[in-house]
Amino acid sequence: MLSVEKLSAGYGKKSVLTDIDIAGMPAGTITAFLGQNGAGKSTLLRSLAGLHRALGTLHLNGADITSHSPAQRARAITYMPQSLPQRVALTVLEATIGALRASSRDPDAVKRSLAVLERLGISNLAMAQLDSLSGGQRQLASLAQALVRKPRVLLLDEPTSALDVAHQIRVMRTIREITEEQGIIAIAVLHDLGLACRWCDRLVLLSGGRVVSDGEPDTALTPDVLNQVYGVTGRIERCSRGYIQVLIDEVA
Ligand SMILES: Nc1ncnc2c1ncn2[C@@H]1O[C@H](COP(=O)(O)OP(=O)(O)O)[C@@H](O)[C@H]1O
Ligand SMILES: [Mg+2]
Repeated sequence: MLSVEKLSAGYGKKSVLTDIDIAGMPAGTITAFLGQNGAGKSTLLRSLAGLHRALGTLHLNGADITSHSPAQRARAITYMPQSLPQRVALTVLEATIGALRASSRDPDAVKRSLAVLERLGISNLAMAQLDSLSGGQRQLASLAQALVRKPRVLLLDEPTSALDVAHQIRVMRTIREITEEQGIIAIAVLHDLGLACRWCDRLVLLSGGRVVSDGEPDTALTPDVLNQVYGVTGRIERCSRGYIQVLIDEVA
């Protein structure tokens, strides 16, 4: 269970997040952080990972981890950033093995890394240089580096933003399965509201540096909330399969 209490953060004098409270996010679930560009979603993820200085308290499984160093937090929390480093002279497999070795001395590092690539459908890229990949392929390679570490808390910043429709589903399904199997507490920043509603247990919507809605997709996302968070007029309907569809009609 991960809980955030009264988290505030900013840059210099500029306040970005104010008194963010997110009660218990349980193991085996995915929570989506949603909000406009600049709402502070990445700042919030980096604050949870201990990579950005923030006020407030963080509890993991009952223990107060607020004062843990970034290195201590990194043992429990893996963060996949929104933009990936360029000019890394490694293959996909080497980078995945490197991510695993950074956190454990698993003698089966190569086997485990190959299994993760297989699971994400990118075994064919194992020997490809990271720098030669497309944006979407890089995103999958980065996700492999996060998943191979088997973290307790997995923070994913826009993991599907560069992916085609098939890979979006494939990635969300894989994250869902691995989260449930390994009892991971997963948090994903997403822009696609349909994906968020279909694959996440809970939505936390941010606007003006605060949480404006928090709950299961059914209850957290309403036309009023869409308006407040994104400044749009929209409808929330169910398709013939029962999935929530968000239809945007107008932008204010
Ligand atoms: N390194 C930084 N220095 C100064 N301001 C920043 C920095 N990073 C982000 N910001 C500002 O903080 C706000 C929130 O940014 P961010 O957390 O990246 O938003 P989001 O991920 O929701 O798009 C934005 O106004 C952005 O310009
Ligand atoms: Mg961001």
